[in-house]
Amino acid sequence: MMRGSNPHDELPPARPGRFITVEGGEGVGKSHFVAALTRHLEGLGRSVVATREPGGTPTADKIREIFARPVSGDPLRMEAEALLVSAARAQHVGQLILPALREGKYVLCDRFADSTRVYQGKIGAIPRYDLERLIAFSTGGIEPDLTFLLDCDVDISLGRLAARTSARLATTGENDSSEVGRYDKAKRSFHERLRFSYHELAQEYPDRIVVIDASSKPDVVAARAIAILTERFP
Ligand code: TMP
Repeated sequence: MMRGSNPHDELPPARPGRFITVEGGEGVGKSHFVAALTRHLEGLGRSVVATREPGGTPTADKIREIFARPVSGDPLRMEAEALLVSAARAQHVGQLILPALREGKYVLCDRFADSTRVYQGKIGAIPRYDLERLIAFSTGGIEPDLTFLLDCDVDISLGRLAARTSARLATTGENDSSEVGRYDKAKRSFHERLRFSYHELAQEYPDRIVVIDASSKPDVVAARAIAILTERFP
């Protein structure tokens, strides 16, 4: 339909869309958390798009494959990592996130630009100034309305990672080099640094990032976040 042919096309959605991201280190329980929040919001009659990064559109998912399984013998440079996740993000924002927000939907995204700030920035040592320009360019400047940072002791997240890996191996028979968990076998010190870096980031964005204790059972963790969500967006 031609733009403007129906006056209702011009009306903003009855309820504003909300962009909510979920962040945290490896094995903190983000997937269950996003699923629980999605069920809750849908139960309230909201339209929800649950998505993840890197990925979220067919092209962004292809970029994820390159990122997650670099060509053997040609390890990804940190600059290339930053550019790959940014290319995937540009596609994701333009093709999925912004259109959904314009339609008044809730977008729940498992990881977003904060992951770049932590993994490629604080850990990968790409200068923050360069990263912020890349993030602004790839997102067109959109920021989440709210970010849940799932946080728990590294012993707990490492235990969950180990359980996840053995469940995957048992059901699929994949070998250890399969996708996901590019850091599953990383040293404990890496996971400690990740946790510390996310804490630093939360202090940089105290209004947007809410730290959630993710050490309890998934339902308890989700209930804490739902209480915050209800308070912020009644
Ligand atoms: P996950 O979906 O299982 O959390 O895996 C995604 C991996 O990609 C995780 O190790 C974090 C990493 N990542 C980055 O390094 N930078 C980014 O910008 C994003 C979105 C993810």
